[in-house]
Amino acid sequence: MHVLELFSLKDKVALVTGGAGILGKSLVEALAEAGGKVIMASRNIEVLEEEKRNFKAQGLDIDILVYDQGNHDSIVKLKEDIQNVYGRLDIFVNNAVARPMKTVDADIAVVEQSMRINAVGVIDIMREMSELMALNGGGSIINISSMMGMFGPDLSNYDGTDMGTPPPDYFFHKGGMINLTKYYAKVLAGKNIRVNTISPGGIFNNQPERFLENYTKKVPLRRFGTGQDFKGVTVLLASHAGAYINGENILIDGGLLA
Ligand SMILES: NC(=O)c1ccc[n+]([C@@H]2O[C@H](COP(=O)([O-])OP(=O)(O)OC[C@H]3O[C@@H](n4cnc5c(N)ncnc54)[C@H](O)[C@@H]3O)[C@@H](O)[C@H]2O)c1
Repeated sequence: MHVLELFSLKDKVALVTGGAGILGKSLVEALAEAGGKVIMASRNIEVLEEEKRNFKAQGLDIDILVYDQGNHDSIVKLKEDIQNVYGRLDIFVNNAVARPMKTVDADIAVVEQSMRINAVGVIDIMREMSELMALNGGGSIINISSMMGMFGPDLSNYDGTDMGTPPPDYFFHKGGMINLTKYYAKVLAGKNIRVNTISPGGIFNNQPERFLENYTKKVPLRRFGTGQDFKGVTVLLASHAGAYINGENILIDGGLLA
């Protein structure tokens, strides 16, 4: 097959959860530009509609669906909606994240809320979407973790800022996701579903100046990541070009942790 054909997502249906978020938007754009029919799903219909309009203005026709990853019935409904409208799912980018814990010692009820969405919800949606993918011969699941799922926090990045110590739940969930990927890579391989992780380093989002400085000087490429930096690898893992990549975790951090 010609190499450009290997990367084509023509006739593929892709779901990106948290698709209206900072990173999600670029992943939606990547999959649509590669020819896929992309569904952007998250909690807030107004935000989704606005992003849909923005994509329309750049010539991309993106579909939207609302769901709540903290609610099993809502995840099942998302699956049924996809099945009813498209009849299949080929690519699932598991990107949504909730950050209810704002401090290192937040109330335990807030820890539970985070667990419900970022741990229970992650297993729940992987089970439901992989079931749908299996009906039409398999596909590719791309879990979005973080370098924070691979290493503890570099606390010196927060020196001179009022950002405080990062909360622990994120490290727990993102670390868990990397090994959950390996678990499902083996368990779902018989259904022709590949499962991989992308672990981004810091993504620029107008963070406080001092934090940007502290972090950037440690990155060999001397900059934060942007959404663009994750488009190519997402299409690689989603497409036939990545047909033999399974169970992998790809760290993309500009060389920070090299
Ligand atoms: N921003 C970074 O620097 C960075 C770095 C490494 C990894 N990541 C990872 O990238 C992914 C996207 O992060 P982001 O920074 O774009 O986040 P974001 O907060 O901009 O987007 C998160 C998305 O998840 C959705 N979401 C949250 N709770 C939900 C729920 N209960 N049900 C359905 N949707 C829900 C939100 O609506 C939003 O669309 C995450 O998995 C994150 O861990 C981000």
